Amino acid sequence: MKPSPTTVSTPLPKHTRIAGTGSLLPARRVTNADLAAELAAKGIETSDDWIVERTGIRARHFADAGTTASDLAVGAARHAIEAAGLTPGDIDLIVLATSTPDMVFPSTACIVQQKLGIVGCPAFDLQAVCSGFVYALTVADSLIRTGTARRALVIGAEVFSRILDFNDRGTCVLFGDGAGAVVLEASDTPGLLATDLHADGRHVGILCVPGTVSGGQVLGDPLLKMDGQAVFRLAVGVLEQSARAALAKAGRVDADIDWLIPHQANLRIMQGTAKKLKLPLDKLIVTVDEHGNTSAASIPLALDHAVRSGRVQRGDTLMLEGVGGGFTWGAVLLDY
Ligand code: ACO
Repeated sequence: MKPSPTTVSTPLPKHTRIAGTGSLLPARRVTNADLAAELAAKGIETSDDWIVERTGIRARHFADAGTTASDLAVGAARHAIEAAGLTPGDIDLIVLATSTPDMVFPSTACIVQQKLGIVGCPAFDLQAVCSGFVYALTVADSLIRTGTARRALVIGAEVFSRILDFNDRGTCVLFGDGAGAVVLEASDTPGLLATDLHADGRHVGILCVPGTVSGGQVLGDPLLKMDGQAVFRLAVGVLEQSARAALAKAGRVDADIDWLIPHQANLRIMQGTAKKLKLPLDKLIVTVDEHGNTSAASIPLALDHAVRSGRVQRGDTLMLEGVGGGFTWGAVLLDY
């Protein structure tokens, strides 16, 4: 009797790991003093002391008029691909988190794909504001573990300076532009250990850009609005809860975290989270002082700076955490 035909299927990968990181900041560095001078010319008062004391921010980078989110994303992506020892042709998925896309459509991910010379792989944008990178990492992890891709480019890229109201001193001093990226790949050994995502749309109004495009015109206000105190109050609580949820899912405890890499919005929020997790402040990666809040780009930017400066080493356990408009929040626990 003839043996029945068998199908040979490739087993699904059990794990994903970060194979390389990269980032790019626009060349123009704007200090608090520079910004204070610009605002003073319009009769708006602020100071380096106020900004440093309330936020920890000392400088940010702003893109020039001709630079788009995809330009920054491509630079960050090339560095991440190179760090992973790969070429763009090895990438088979692009997930890009941004709130400041190049166009209404197509996605900035497709523009990045074209600029990198990659053809055919799935590419899409993901919108979860400052939680965008942890959302994107979670989605890419799922798509790799269900067999859709093996090597994903996960990017956070923003030109937030385009949506800032430079007549509102309460917001325009907080944000900056930049991009960060990782290559996430299928792995036999654990990398990403647990993820935890949430949203609460009841808080849409506390952090938003309420304008839209209709009939060839901008309807409503296309600049960022924020109730800073409401954001502050919510952020510290949800960041602790999400970190604890991710630790519990992975069967780990606070003390297992080698580095806390939270969304870089405000030093006081970041230090508050570290304290709640009983982590010494020297385990907190801080780049908000030099980058400001770069929304979806802030976590991969901070991660890449920590890797390239030699602080984060292979085998370290990292807690990445995002929080932002939506209201959205989430955490990714991983062994680097
Ligand atoms: N320079 C000088 N004074 C200022 C400035 C400024 N840049 N901005 C506000 N002030 C003044 C206010 O007008 C107010 O003056 P008044 O008392 O005379 O009315 C005073 O400072 C206090 O203002 P508050 O808004 O109460 O200041 P607060 O201590 O809350 O700090 C801040 C404001 C820094 C925005 C804080 O609320 C915060 O960090 N919130 C969280 C913001 C955040 O993290 N946002 C990003 C979330 S991520 C995302 O999705 C984009």
